[in-house]
Amino acid sequence: MNFQLTEEQAAVQAAAREFAQTELLPGVIDRDEDQIFPAEQVKKMGELGFLGMMTSPAYGGGGMDTVSYVLAMEELSKVDASASVVMSVNNSLVCWGLEKYGTEEQKKKYLTPLAKGEIIGAFCLSEPEAGSDATSQRTTAEDKGDHYLINGTKNWITNGGTASVYLVIAQTHVEKGHKGINAIIVEKGTPGFVVGKKENKLGIRGSDTHSLMFTDVKVPKENRIGEDGFGFTFAMNVLNGGRIGIAAQALGIASGAYELAVKYSKERKAFGKPISQHQGIQFKLADMATKIEAARLLCLQAASLKDAHQDYAKAGAMAKLFASQVAMEVTVEAVQVHGGYGFVKEYHVERLMRDAKITQIYEGTSEIQKIVISREVLK
Ligand code: CAA
Ligand code: FAD
Repeated sequence: MNFQLTEEQAAVQAAAREFAQTELLPGVIDRDEDQIFPAEQVKKMGELGFLGMMTSPAYGGGGMDTVSYVLAMEELSKVDASASVVMSVNNSLVCWGLEKYGTEEQKKKYLTPLAKGEIIGAFCLSEPEAGSDATSQRTTAEDKGDHYLINGTKNWITNGGTASVYLVIAQTHVEKGHKGINAIIVEKGTPGFVVGKKENKLGIRGSDTHSLMFTDVKVPKENRIGEDGFGFTFAMNVLNGGRIGIAAQALGIASGAYELAVKYSKERKAFGKPISQHQGIQFKLADMATKIEAARLLCLQAASLKDAHQDYAKAGAMAKLFASQVAMEVTVEAVQVHGGYGFVKEYHVERLMRDAKITQIYEGTSEIQKIVISREVLK
């Protein structure tokens, strides 16, 4: 496997780094503190093509590979994981799912504005009583001939208040279990569809997380994605790629905190010399660098497998499991390297430490990644 970046990949990485430093960094502390969605920044991300990177140009996307997407996710996540999760959901859950499985009409109507970043999307699988146990969907999509009638509640939906298009997973044929589930496109503003309260979170506080309520929401049959009963497989297939995006997010959070720790360790003096000259700090930095490199290789491997059209479910789950663990470990150590200054907002690392935690929870908890990996291992 060759991890030498192509010219195009290196250019994407540089553009993402530049965008993160010039557009995301200013105000990131206040947005976190006040739970402000990065609306202006997301608009610019759309204009620069970050919201539909992998979508084909025929539908308004950048037509880039998954490796480029991982590189861009890492750079944006070094600075603002609340912005990068918008990018991750829109690219790898919503746009990828619509391009791979949607009809031509669905692609023209929904995918094109989503990939251009004119609107953003949300992916709605989790429910109050169905998180890890995702086959236990309680939301129903009753087949009424020419339309579905959706009833139920979705929980924790990223972009919940700001999205215009929602991919909603719901049960149509209860007796068929997960084979009776459908994925249905629901537009914001459809009567009976209500956006619930915004969650007040530990991390990614700028991200817009809501519950969603559906009461007799009438949606035309042509909004179903794939064949009748394909919805659960759709969700799983979409998440296999989504997990690569979240792995890259975790990698970025870790490498962002690491870069800050290296810089600070050279500036801060204790016992007559920069703390970077104390072996105790050097060893911390060595461990951090090694873990980040290993996480990066797993992310790139999963992305390369996807680009090569090979099976990437296990590789993506491994990348997410490992990179999210690394994000936790490295951000805790980055706070430690900063001493007391690491404990206050101005130095960024406490926020990165709080943001790291979500990468072990969403798009399948670490325990769920182990289920996915072990099933593949034991096949
Ligand atoms: N890829 C493709 N198909 C998969 C799959 C995968 N990774 N994992 C399971 N499936 C398929 C199985 O093959 C099976 O299909 P068939 O019967 O046709 O063979 C079907 O799904 C059901 O699988 P299981 O019988 O194994 O079901 P289970 O209930 O024992 O376990 C699970 C399934 C893997 C635990 C699954 O429920 C799961 O992934 N849960 C986690 C849910 C999750 O990741 N949610 C994320 C929400 S989105 C989000 O979080 C976005 C965000 O924050 C930004
Ligand atoms: P539970 O499933 O109740 O799990 C509780 C604990 O039990 C976890 O540690 C879990 O790993 C463990 N556990 C459960 N089953 C097993 C098992 N079989 N073996 C071992 N351990 C197990 N969902 C969406 O659909 N769309 C979104 O956009 C979205 N965005 C999110 C954003 C945020 C900020 C958050 C917090 C969540 C988001 N989610 C979203 C939901 C997320 O995917 C779920 O929270 C996650 O899948 C876990 O589900 P749960 O919270 O119900 O936990």
